[in-house]
Amino acid sequence: MELLKDAENYLMPNYSRLNIFFERGEGVYLYDAEGKKYLDMLAGIAVNTLGYNHPKLTEAICEQAKNIIHISNLFQIKPQIEVAKILSENSINGKLFFCNSGAEANEAAIKLARKYFHSKGLNKYEFISFKNSFHGRTLATLTATGQPKYQEGFKPLPEGFKYAELNDINSVKELITDKTAGIILEIIQGEGGINPVEDNFLKELYQLTREKDILLIVDEVQTGIGRTGKLFAYQHFDIEPDIITLAKGLGGGVPIGAVIAKEEIGNSFTSGSHGSTFGGNYLATVTAKSVLEEILKDGFLEEVREKGEFLKDLLSELGFKPRGLGLMIGITIPENIKAIDVMKLCLNEGLIVGVAGNNSLRFTPPLIIEKDEIKEGIQILKKVLTKLKVI
Ligand SMILES: Cc1ncc(COP(=O)(O)O)c(C=O)c1O
Repeated sequence: MELLKDAENYLMPNYSRLNIFFERGEGVYLYDAEGKKYLDMLAGIAVNTLGYNHPKLTEAICEQAKNIIHISNLFQIKPQIEVAKILSENSINGKLFFCNSGAEANEAAIKLARKYFHSKGLNKYEFISFKNSFHGRTLATLTATGQPKYQEGFKPLPEGFKYAELNDINSVKELITDKTAGIILEIIQGEGGINPVEDNFLKELYQLTREKDILLIVDEVQTGIGRTGKLFAYQHFDIEPDIITLAKGLGGGVPIGAVIAKEEIGNSFTSGSHGSTFGGNYLATVTAKSVLEEILKDGFLEEVREKGEFLKDLLSELGFKPRGLGLMIGITIPENIKAIDVMKLCLNEGLIVGVAGNNSLRFTPPLIIEKDEIKEGIQILKKVLTKLKVI
């Protein structure tokens, strides 16, 4: 096929793409060039919060596209201010910085933490993150990512990053010095294999950061914007982050990233100290506003939690021990079968699921998915797993 040849000739080979061209999307369904229908339980890797062709989202984007798409941060941007207010009031009452991706949000958070301590005259610049974490692909976020495979070939890496074991408080204590500026944590590790943080560990970690004047940076790039059944995953616990990073679901498919920081910390990004040409532009923030308006409607998040429990129950009935919260669920596939092979067979049968570390399958469907659609997806999965003799 000509187009696939062009893909090989003109695109860098950094992705192992599957050769399917999707041509149309509607709700939780995608249709390929041959008209084959797929139920999407991956949602562009936890991005397409409201599914495809959502009337409200589509209308907001089309209307804005007929007007100003972009104006730059040399000027005030009304929807950027509005989105900042919604996110702030629904989290830590902090201040916002907008960018375009998860990596950029985490990069900004790392810079912000260093700048904050610098402005206080303190020499605190080190970060502790966790093994199996994933925080992005820029040099600093790649270094924060606790998986050596992503760092190979890119050395020397920036200084000052150390890795603790998730859910092992002593492993964190051992790494803390008087130079520790921040601890970066996913509430549920996404790329690492849907590994949830434990309640007790998080409580102790939070206390530790309060005692040692360390900023708690919660990476909600994948878990945020309703994915776990709360607006932010940290809200399932009794803690308050100093910095929250966002991207993925916030734009429902339109690129946007954001950092929320407590006021005093946010204020250390003084004029000219950080920026982004596109960050928080009209198109992106008008879109984010309509995503947030949908998600914050009465009962929406409660339904996400219910649908998540329903999905977990169906997976348990198949004999798995599902991990995760809301509509961010993972299961481990037995060692003799590769999760990627299960994913490919599901695709043949018209179901899109993801894979994550530790030979796991990952379910992050659009948050608008209905119970009947979840049932339909699990029936396809059951068929595939029966064929593979996994169940
Ligand atoms: C928790 C987390 N942080 C950061 C990132 C990086 O986001 P992006 O790919 O938008 O740079 C990801 C992407 O998967 C992620 O899951």
